[in-house]
Amino acid sequence: MNARIIVGAQWGDEGKGKIVDILSAQADIVARYQGGANAGHTIVIGDKKYILHLIPSGILHSGVQCVIGNGVVLDPVALMEEIATLEAAGISVTGRLFISHQAHLIMPYHKLLDTAREQQSEMQIGTTGRGIGPAYIDKFSRIGIRIVDLLDRPSFEEKLRANLAEKNVILRKIYGREELSVDNIVNEYLDFDIKMDQFITDTSLFLNNALRDGKRVLMEGAQGALLDVDHGTYPYVTSSNPTSGGACAGLGIPPTAINSIIGVAKAYSTRVGNGPFPTELNDATGERLRIEGAEFGATTGRPRRCGWLDLPALRYSAMINGIMEFALTKLDVLDNFDEIKVCNQYMRFGKPVKSFPAAAETLDSIEPQYETLSGWNRSLKGIRRYEDLPAETRYYIEYIENFTGVRVSMISSSPAREDVIFR
Ligand code: GDP
Ligand code: IMO
Ligand code: MG
Repeated sequence: MNARIIVGAQWGDEGKGKIVDILSAQADIVARYQGGANAGHTIVIGDKKYILHLIPSGILHSGVQCVIGNGVVLDPVALMEEIATLEAAGISVTGRLFISHQAHLIMPYHKLLDTAREQQSEMQIGTTGRGIGPAYIDKFSRIGIRIVDLLDRPSFEEKLRANLAEKNVILRKIYGREELSVDNIVNEYLDFDIKMDQFITDTSLFLNNALRDGKRVLMEGAQGALLDVDHGTYPYVTSSNPTSGGACAGLGIPPTAINSIIGVAKAYSTRVGNGPFPTELNDATGERLRIEGAEFGATTGRPRRCGWLDLPALRYSAMINGIMEFALTKLDVLDNFDEIKVCNQYMRFGKPVKSFPAAAETLDSIEPQYETLSGWNRSLKGIRRYEDLPAETRYYIEYIENFTGVRVSMISSSPAREDVIFR
């Protein structure tokens, strides 16, 4: 399998970082294809914990090359901080990091507009405030500033000036914020250009050459299918396509090159930010999942909303992404539950719902139906073979497989790199 896509199958934070890190041992290149520093991918190795926002989760394997593709919106401030943190931990990115010259830049006004809009909005999405939505708006309005623009100072200044002519009016008149100065941003970004220059390249050419030469490429999704701007719980979504379809567009790799799609799914459900969440538990059980699963955002520290596994949503995600196998994470969080519920049917006004609803309002009025399964009441830590899992755990896994039609090929039972079962 030399071109694999790893996608989040739910609302993000499924444990993609851990799974990508593990699979990186069998990869030459790991590439991020969409999103930006809204992502927070955690990897735990021994007593060290790394949280990556922009740099692919393969970076902890010294022999792996890492790509930030054209589909990512890149915040140079976040990138510089992340490189500095990694270097301080003894991990060098020099010669191993490749950033697409076509990637769009997150500018200071994107972050200001993101938070100002959220504060003023009557329908808050609960964004991460990293400027993601406003940067993608500019990309699709064809006024975005790309990394390649940094190479030509007069043209960069001209594009920035045109952007600020509009943004400053919005910032001042609509949001009552201070205007930004062209000169300050030009100086700041040309300084970033000097620091980033060594990483910038034509990553599409780089990746296609690598695939032609038989190298193994892992494509690392950020966020999750239910946060996809087209297929997720719109408008409570992010502004890109985290689904597998986004990988080809976000990297310039043709769909014909892809031969494996792995969905990372958590053994229960979480969501951070606002929006419909049919199986959410606003009770002591939800609180228990949050505490036992340490469900606090890796990027913003916000408590994650928690609930039982939502199988209709997972089956929908498998369909949209073409998931060929699941990596099931955080099963250990359910270790001490006597009973575990799974949602296996959406009902609305007393009738079964046949397909995943498009409107957030419809999803909000879903009455999830549950089946109660027996818990296993013992620790899964240290188990390395599928056959050694308790019968109740295997039943839970096989229930998911039967419902979704997708095999669970990897099982994770702790944050640590070594706690994984390959099946
Ligand atoms: P990502 O955004 O999909 O990479 O996931 P996050 O890193 O935001 O959140 C997943 C959290 O769960 C992190 O704190 C991981 O260290 C942790 N984690 C990953 N896999 C497991 C697991 O199998 N069990 C437990 N208990 N924690 C896990
Ligand atoms: P990883 O890659 C979980 C959520 C935000 C908000 C919505 C829109 O770590 O799984 P945005 O800042 O993207 O405009 O916010 O999407 N969100 C995430 N939730 N995990 C993420 O990334 C997320 N990235 C964005 O909380 O609800
Ligand atoms: Mg995360």
